[in-house]
Amino acid sequence: MMIFLGCDHAGIDEKNSLKQMLLENNLQVTDCGIQNGEKIDYPVISQTVSDNVKKNNNALGFIICGTGIGVSIKANRNKGIRAALVYDEFSAVMAREHNNANVVCFGARTLGESKILKYTNLFLQSEYLGTTDEGRRHDNRVKMLDN
Ligand code: RB5
Repeated sequence: MMIFLGCDHAGIDEKNSLKQMLLENNLQVTDCGIQNGEKIDYPVISQTVSDNVKKNNNALGFIICGTGIGVSIKANRNKGIRAALVYDEFSAVMAREHNNANVVCFGARTLGESKILKYTNLFLQSEYLGTTDEGRRHDNRVKMLDN
């Protein structure tokens, strides 16, 4: 599974910590930027990550801005992208189990580093329920998102 990371200038430290944690877990990570000293408008980095997720089967994206709101709005304008603004433990699990999110958005200024790392782990440890007989309703709803 390929993971694409991105952030605007509000989330550089948090993106770098997330990158380090994912690499330590031997995941395949591509850092789409930005790096220290750079600035970028959040729609631009959100689109870069979304484009990479669309191009690669089963890829995931994590995008961080000040609130996570701007990057999630932009990512969700892409057909095939299911971006979830994750804000607590429950939403981290539900984003995967029910929504099959392929992009997770975080607010660096609303959550901070330790919550972002914790919610990322919860998301990655969860599984989409829509492939089970019991969870078929979730799959029907997820399919409706792009129709
Ligand atoms: C940048 O200052 C800020 O507006 C951005 O990071 C984000 O919070 C937008 O949703």
